[in-house]
Amino acid sequence: MPSQGVKLYVQDKHVLTLCFPLFISFFVLTTFFGFYHLQVVLDNGILQVTISNPDGILTAIQYNGIDNLLAVENQEADRGYWDLVWNLAGSKGTKGKFDRIEATSFEVIVENEDQVELSFTRTWNPSLEGKVVPLNIEKRFIMLRNSSGFYTYAIYEHLKEWPAFNLDRFRVAFKLRKDKFHYMAMADNRQRYMPLPDDRLPYRSQTLAYPEAVLLVDPMETEFRGEVDDKYQYSCENKDNRVHGWICNDPPVGFWQITPSDEFRSAGPHKQNLTSHVGPTTLAVMHSVHYSGEDLILKFGSNEAWKKVFGPIFIYLNSLSDAGGNPLSLWEDAKQQMRIEVQDWPYTFPASQDFPQSHQRGNVSGRLLVKDRYVCKDYIPANGAYVGLAPPGDVGSWQSEVKGYQFWTRADEDGYFCINNIWTGDYNLYAWVPGFIGDYKYDVIITPSAGYDIFMGDLVYEPPRDGPTLWEIGVPDRTAAEFYVPDPSPMFVNRLYVNHPDRFRQYGLWERYADLYPDRDLVYTVGVSDYTKDWFFAQVTRKNDDNTYQGTTWQIKFKLDCAANETETYKLRLALATAHAAELQVRVNDDGKSPLFSSGQIGKDNTIARHGIHGLYRLYHVGIPGNLLLEGDNTIFLTQPKSTSPFQGIMYDYIRLEGPASSNGNKKP
Ligand SMILES: *[C@@H]1O[C@H](CO)[C@@H](O)[C@H](O)[C@H]1NC(C)=O
Ligand SMILES: *[C@@H]1O[C@H](CO)[C@@H](O)[C@H](O)[C@H]1NC(C)=O
Ligand SMILES: *[C@@H]1O[C@H](CO)[C@@H](O)[C@H](O)[C@H]1NC(C)=O
Ligand SMILES: *[C@@H]1O[C@H](CO)[C@@H](O)[C@H](O)[C@H]1NC(C)=O
Repeated sequence: MPSQGVKLYVQDKHVLTLCFPLFISFFVLTTFFGFYHLQVVLDNGILQVTISNPDGILTAIQYNGIDNLLAVENQEADRGYWDLVWNLAGSKGTKGKFDRIEATSFEVIVENEDQVELSFTRTWNPSLEGKVVPLNIEKRFIMLRNSSGFYTYAIYEHLKEWPAFNLDRFRVAFKLRKDKFHYMAMADNRQRYMPLPDDRLPYRSQTLAYPEAVLLVDPMETEFRGEVDDKYQYSCENKDNRVHGWICNDPPVGFWQITPSDEFRSAGPHKQNLTSHVGPTTLAVMHSVHYSGEDLILKFGSNEAWKKVFGPIFIYLNSLSDAGGNPLSLWEDAKQQMRIEVQDWPYTFPASQDFPQSHQRGNVSGRLLVKDRYVCKDYIPANGAYVGLAPPGDVGSWQSEVKGYQFWTRADEDGYFCINNIWTGDYNLYAWVPGFIGDYKYDVIITPSAGYDIFMGDLVYEPPRDGPTLWEIGVPDRTAAEFYVPDPSPMFVNRLYVNHPDRFRQYGLWERYADLYPDRDLVYTVGVSDYTKDWFFAQVTRKNDDNTYQGTTWQIKFKLDCAANETETYKLRLALATAHAAELQVRVNDDGKSPLFSSGQIGKDNTIARHGIHGLYRLYHVGIPGNLLLEGDNTIFLTQPKSTSPFQGIMYDYIRLEGPASSNGNKKP
């Protein structure tokens, strides 16, 4: 070992390739700091990416005259990396052991004029039991000729004889330079100049109800003063999460994370995730329990073999071709590049045998129709239905399915759907149809095989329905967005969401309920009230003066024209958009009695605190015996009694009362 203090940089010009005019050169740099520190550099003449060897962590990205786009003030290991959170089998909670996945061996997989592909692996063995997550992990990086970016993907493998364990989260994280990247974009209407990370420091900010949310009290740029910053305000559903990132104005540079397919993301199209946030940080979250809770932890038993490919994702860099252009237009170009990547999926270039090419995949197509005789005598095309293949399971199980691959599409207005490029294997076909409650599942397991197109013909979904609709509140779309979402307190505004369709992303709306209903809880009168104004989007707890919380009881008042038939049953359909440590009790016409229905304790979605407008979908069917209902005025009481925190409660998606099957809706003939 060289003695301490001696700094000797040996650039071991170990040049493996340098092929003019393709400029994909790639060499190994050796430095001595008392230990070996090696790195590999990928260079295609457009950008240069430096990766530590054999750790496989990105330490530098050089582009457009900036020597490093990554956070140079951070430790090298804290700039661009795959990470995961895991725990021992049987452990509780979602906070496990953080692992930045430092690989132990490096290999060049492909090296030619058009492509260089590198592999960094960490292999598990029983001597690591309890110390390292029992997975073999291989991280890959690909650079193509004339491509303004690079790809990364990973392969995780758990062998059958290895110990049981839990996997809470995994992702790729990029920490960018805070002196360069100030503008963040994730959608046409979700982009803005962002505060600096320093603005979140204790002497510049005030922590709000949880550490992620702060009020910017003394930010370096005064324009942010008085605003709330919270990374959860920038969450996004998987289906909408294709491209997001940051823009540097000088020189104009965009840094974008593009995810062309959802196939490796868990929990289906509506699962929400973090995207980019103050840091400046950009994440490609492959798996998280956000907006769903502990149910989504991957729990591996002993004797459970598992292998999954995550990615590839594309890191795209862009700059302006004409001097004097608007740097913010780089977002438009990033979207254009995203469309190209989506078009090119599945990629042909990844060299791993584990990533199937298009001809090794299958397609499934068909048409979905809805049969609901109280809406229409004929079949109704499942216009815009979400149709997907996910591993075999119960009806609706896809929304918490986390180990396999899922393939989703939307049906056209006639209900036709086509799901392409499916990995071979066993699946159920699942669907849900906007405008209708419940979940569809095709009961026979289908097994697409390589190069085959399975045509399933007409499939018919019969949503739960016993009788005619007497009344309904909301629309069955699995969110509470159509209900009344208040303005935030003027103290807690994020200006991005002022006059914005996503009003629900403002901080602190849960406290607005008690402001709007100071003395008594919400009462909704069918035929008089308007759910867009009179139905608060979340049934939250009410804060008492002594800082304790109490549950709430909401009332739905409605009239029946004639006395109910004692021998018949009415049906109350309660579709929930989310629940957090809550319980839903239903009483009819007497709120003193023990409930006619209780859900029991439900939900760990944590959607109220995190400004989601939905979490996991839940649907309850409550039979109401006719003798509980009266001619004239009736009241249904909805009680949420759990009350230890401000974030507990329920969001409804849709509520419907159905008359008895044989009835004409209890209208006078
Ligand atoms: C490189 O990419 C650019 C932009 O996509 C394209 O215009 C150009 O023709 C490509 N050049 C080569 C040599 O492929
Ligand atoms: C969001 O979460 C799902 C489920 O945990 C995950 O599989 C998906 O990759 C995530 N989406 C993003 C942004 O990467
Ligand atoms: C599946 O669909 C894709 C996209 O339309 C197409 O390229 C491919 O050829 C299809 N495969 C089969 C076997 O039909
Ligand atoms: C109540 O409903 C049952 C079943 O539909 C019907 O047979 C009976 O005639 C009804 N009774 C009254 C009083 O309407």
